[in-house]
Amino acid sequence: MCGIIGYIGKKRAAPILFDSLKKLEYRGYDSVGMATINGEAEIEIKKGSGRIEAVNEKEDFLTLKGNIGIGHTRWATHGAVEDRNAHPFTSCNGHYALVHNGILENYLELKEDLKKKGHVFTSDTDTEVLVHLIEEEMNNSKEKDLVKVLSKLTQIAKGAYTFLLLDAKNNIIYAFRKDSPIIIGIGEDELFASSDITSFLAYTNKAIILENNQLAILRDNCSIYDIQTGKEVEQEITTIDWTAEQASKSGFPHFMLKEIFEEVEISKHALEQDSLKFNGMIDVLSKAKKVFFLGSGTSYRACLLASIYFAQIAKKHFMPILGSEFKTYQNLIDKDTVIFAISQSGETADVLEGINIAKTKGARVVSLVNVIGSTIMRESDQYLTLNAGPEIAVASTKAFTSQVLILTLLAYGLSDRLKEGREHLYEVVRKLEVIMNQSDTIAILAKDVLNKNDLYLIGRGASYPIAMEGELKIKEIAYIHADALAGGELKHHTLALIEPGVPCIALVPNDDTKDDMINNIMQIKARGGKIIGISSEHLELFDYYISIPKVHLEPLLMIPVLQLISYYLSVIRGNDPDFPRNLAKSVTVL
Ligand code: AGP
Repeated sequence: MCGIIGYIGKKRAAPILFDSLKKLEYRGYDSVGMATINGEAEIEIKKGSGRIEAVNEKEDFLTLKGNIGIGHTRWATHGAVEDRNAHPFTSCNGHYALVHNGILENYLELKEDLKKKGHVFTSDTDTEVLVHLIEEEMNNSKEKDLVKVLSKLTQIAKGAYTFLLLDAKNNIIYAFRKDSPIIIGIGEDELFASSDITSFLAYTNKAIILENNQLAILRDNCSIYDIQTGKEVEQEITTIDWTAEQASKSGFPHFMLKEIFEEVEISKHALEQDSLKFNGMIDVLSKAKKVFFLGSGTSYRACLLASIYFAQIAKKHFMPILGSEFKTYQNLIDKDTVIFAISQSGETADVLEGINIAKTKGARVVSLVNVIGSTIMRESDQYLTLNAGPEIAVASTKAFTSQVLILTLLAYGLSDRLKEGREHLYEVVRKLEVIMNQSDTIAILAKDVLNKNDLYLIGRGASYPIAMEGELKIKEIAYIHADALAGGELKHHTLALIEPGVPCIALVPNDDTKDDMINNIMQIKARGGKIIGISSEHLELFDYYISIPKVHLEPLLMIPVLQLISYYLSVIRGNDPDFPRNLAKSVTVL
C-alpha cells in the first residue's frame, strides 16, 4: 500500500523525509517522491518510478531545501508505473502539492469537469485529480478555509482518500483522513504526519491517530477539525510503546528473519494478556449464539486453526470466513452474531468491509490486532492485542505465531481450562528456541531438496491450516508454486501430480492424525515422491527429517519451521523476503 510522510519543524525536511520513506518501503511500492517548500515559498518536487535508492541516484532528494515537506511511496492502482504517475502532484497555480493513500472512485468524471475549467493534468492517476479539485474549490471558496471546502468536497469526491497537502503560501501541511489511516507524530518543536508510526518512531513515539473526516493543520502547532461539524476537536495523544530499535533490523539480514527469531520472546508477551480484557473476550464468546472468525491471507489461516482448536478444545463451532468472501455468508449474520476479526495491521480492507456489513446487521465485532489504534481495533466493541511489536516484513510470521497462541488460549479459557492451556502453550513457547537453533539445517534442506518449482505440503487436523500457511509463505516470498492439502485429499486429486523426486513436506505431529499421515506418506513414496518429515519422532519413511520437540500441541512448533523454510528458499532464489513482488504489507484496497 502507499506510504505517506509529512514533516514540519526546525530541521531540514529532506533528510527526515528520506529516512522515513526508507522505513515505509516494507509496505510495498513501485515509485517514490518528495516535495518541500523552499526558501522562496515555492514547491520543489523530486520523484520517479523505481526503488528509493535508484530514484535518488537520478533525483538526489537531499538537495531539496526547506523545513516543510511531504513524501510518498506509491503502490500503483490507477496509472502505470511511470515517473509521471509518481506522487506528489501540484495544483495549476503551484501553491499546493499533494500525496494520497486510497482510491478516488469517481476521478474520471471529476477530471473531465476540471479539464473543462482549464485544469491541466500530467498523469493518469486519481490522486492528481484531488489536488486540482482542492485548488478549484479553494479558488471558489470565499473563506479560503479548507475545513469548509473539504466538507463540500467529500460530498462530490467518492472513495477512500487520505492525503497530505502542502500549502506553500501559508507554510502549512494539511493531513486529512478518509478511510486509510493517518497518524500525527508530536515531536519536540516538530510535527510528523504518516500512514505508519514506524516511519517517524526514531523521532517520537507520541502520536495522535486521526479519525475519519478529521483534518489536522500542522504549522508551529497541530490543530484538528472535524470537517462535518467544522469544529476543532480535542486531541488524545497516545504514547506508542514501540521503540525505533524494534522497527530496525538489529543486525539481521532481513526483517523477516529477525521477526521469526523474535518469536522466542514475543510469544511470552502474547500469552501475557490483560486479564480484564482477556476474560471479557471469553465472556463475549461464551454468550454468543454465533461466532464467525474473519481474516485474510495468513490471518485467515489463523482463523482456520482457531476454528479447529475451538471445536476440539471448547466444543464450539466458530466458523472461519475469508475476508473477501464475507458477502457470501452475510445472510447468516444478525444481532445474535459475534464477528471475531483477526488482523495484524488492523487495516485490511476485505476484513473492514465485512465488519461494516456485519455492523449494519446488528452484529457485535471483536478483534485480535497487532497495531494499536488501527481501524479494525477502533471499529471493535472489544479487542485483544498481539503485543508482538512492529512487524515490518511483508510476510507475516511473529504475528501469526502470536495469533494462534492467543486464540488457542482463548479456546482453553472458553472450556474453563485456562491453567491447562497455559501449561501446554508455555511448553510450546519454551521450545521455540530449539527450532530456531535448527535454522542452519533448515537452510541446507531448503537449498539441497526444496528449491524446486513445485512443492507439496500435507497435514491433517490442526496441522492442515499450518500446512496452508506454509504454502502461503513459500508462494509469497519464494515465488514457488506450493500446494497444501489435507492428507486424506491426496487420493482424491493431488496424488495424480506425484512423480519420482517430487518433494512433499509432511507434518506428522504425535497426535491422532499420525497413523493416517503415515498412510499418506506411503501413498506418496509408492509413486517416488520425496518426503520431508516434520515430526517429534524420526520415521524410517522420511527421506529427510526436521525434528521438533515432543509437546502436547506439536503442530504449533511446525509454524517456525515452515517460516524458516520459506525464508531460506526466498533468499536462495535471489528474492528479497522483506519486499515480495506485487505484494504489500497492509492491503487497504478491496
Ligand atoms: C501474510 O504473509 C501476507 N502478507 C498476507 O496474506 C497478510 O496476512 C494479509 O494481507 C492479512 O494481513 P493482516 O493480518 O494485516 O490483516
